[in-house]
This record gives sequence, C-alpha cells and structure tokens, in this order.
Amino acid sequence: MTKTTREPVGKAIVLIPTYNERENLPLIVGRLRSAVPAADVLVLDDGSPDGTGIVADELARSDDQVHVLHRSSKQGLGRAYLAGFAWAMERGYDVLVEMDADGSHQPEQLPGLLAALNEADLAIGARWVQGGAVENWPAHRKVLSVGANVYTKLMLGMRVNDATAGYRAYRADALRTMGLQGVESQGYCFQIDLTVRAVRAGLTVVEVPITFVEREIGVSKMGKDIIREALTNVTRWGVTYRAGQVRSRLQRRPVAALQPRPKEGVDS
Ligand code: GDD
Ligand code: MN
Repeated sequence: MTKTTREPVGKAIVLIPTYNERENLPLIVGRLRSAVPAADVLVLDDGSPDGTGIVADELARSDDQVHVLHRSSKQGLGRAYLAGFAWAMERGYDVLVEMDADGSHQPEQLPGLLAALNEADLAIGARWVQGGAVENWPAHRKVLSVGANVYTKLMLGMRVNDATAGYRAYRADALRTMGLQGVESQGYCFQIDLTVRAVRAGLTVVEVPITFVEREIGVSKMGKDIIREALTNVTRWGVTYRAGQVRSRLQRRPVAALQPRPKEGVDS
C-alpha cells in the first residue's frame, strides 16, 4: 500500500539569493545543473557591488534554464525570496527550492529534499537532527543557531528542530496557502516566519538531515540587525501564541461562576 496522496513532484526551480557572491555563483550553479539537471535556477541578486549580477547574466545567457531577477539594492534575504516566489509561481513552477549561493547547501543533497516532498508540503534540510551535521562552523555560530532553534521551539511550541534552516523545498500549492502577502520578516528570520506559517496552516513539514558546509569563499551577511529582527519577531509571535493558548483554555473550562446567568422570567 502506498502512502502517497499528493500529486507527483513536478517542475522545480531553485532560488539562489546573492549579495557579493561573484566567485561562488558559477560554482554553485554548475554543481546544481549537474546534480539535478531537470531543475531550473533563478538567481535573486540585490545589486551586488562586486558584480555578481553581471556574472548571473552571463550564466543565464549560456543556459536557458538559468534566470536572473535583479533588484536595485540590498533589501534582505526575506524580501529577495518573496520576489522570487512571486516570479516562479507566476510561471507555473510546482516546486520552489531555497538554496544559499556559497556552497553551504550541497546541490548533491537536493534529490533527497525533492523526494521528501512526495510525503510533504515542505521539506527542510536540517542540521540539528539525527544524521544532520555542520562542517567548519566556529563555535559562536553553532551556539547562535542552536540557541535560536531552542528559543523558537520554546516560544512557538513547534516540533521542528531546525526552523532557521535555509535549505528547503516547498510545494507551490502549499506556499499559496501560507499568507505570503503578510510576511514582514526581511532578514534570515524569514525562514522561521515561513516555518511557523507552514505549521499553523496545517501543512506537512518534514526535516531531511543534511550536512551544512561553511563557505570557503566570501563572507557571511549575518549581522546584529538580522539577529535583532529574529529575536524581536519570535518573542512577539511567542507571546501572542502563548496568550492565545491561555485564552482558549480558560474559555473551554466549564466554570459555573463564569457562565452567564439565565435572565429571570425567561424560560430556558
Ligand atoms: N539577494 C540577497 N539579498 N541575498 C542575500 C542577502 C540580501 O540582502 N543577504 C544574504 N543573502 C544571500 C547570500 O549571498 C547567500 O547566498 C545567502 O543569502 C545566505 O547568506 P549567508 O550570509 O551566507 O548566510 P549564513 O551562512 O550566515 O547563514 C546560513 O544560516 C542561517 C541560519 O541558520 C543561511 O543558511 C541562512 O539561510 C540561515 O538562516
Ligand atoms: Mn553562508
């Protein structure tokens, strides 16, 4: 007996946000095109000063399956992905993949993520699960990532272990139910935001173990603003979520004193 009740996984596109990834981009696109030749690629460049956008255009010129979306200035990972999602959904792609440009998300592990969509709406390439790993990250990055995930779990009561992960595959029809127009997260908090939305929308989320490999070229764009936004948003969502839980528990309790008294003279 087969458990599969979903449509078979259809046409996929891999979205790659870039900011100053001139040297990394040709490497990741090359690896991706040979690991999963059927998948198209969309580079989301935010006007990188190092000319990544020009490199992306050159790649697109020599390969019909590579596309580029240029934005004039750096507006954050979340904004870039939202623009990319809209672009891809307008063009009828069935599966949308998120992948960093710097080699941290190995294209060779993408078939595993895509296969997981046979049973799920969102497949997260997870580090902090059994079989998952991180290579070459300094201790402070590990602490930050584990800490962010523990805090997210505590505040939001989700069973997801790597809600901040940036290597993911979504079914397009699932994304359409997630209220993307309401997403305000601009930075890496976008990943947590979409995880919460998927869970709250009742979608099936699975975590597929991956090995995250720290970049060898270029630098991370993670900064204090990104951490601050994530901390503020998760705390706000958590307080709202926990307050809602308390309210619904109180409402469900059949406390006689809290019941409205029947009005005198009115038959009940
Ligand atoms: N277009 C665009 N605009 N791209 C951006 C921006 C932006 O403002 N900021 C970052 N990027 C791109 C980078 O060029 C890279 O391809 C990708 O987004 C990830 O950025 P990194 O700076 O390499 O992220 P990281 O390695 O520190 O963080 C990783 O871990 C985070 C926490 O687990 C990523 O996988 C994140 O997605 C993840 O949330
Ligand atoms: Mn990185």
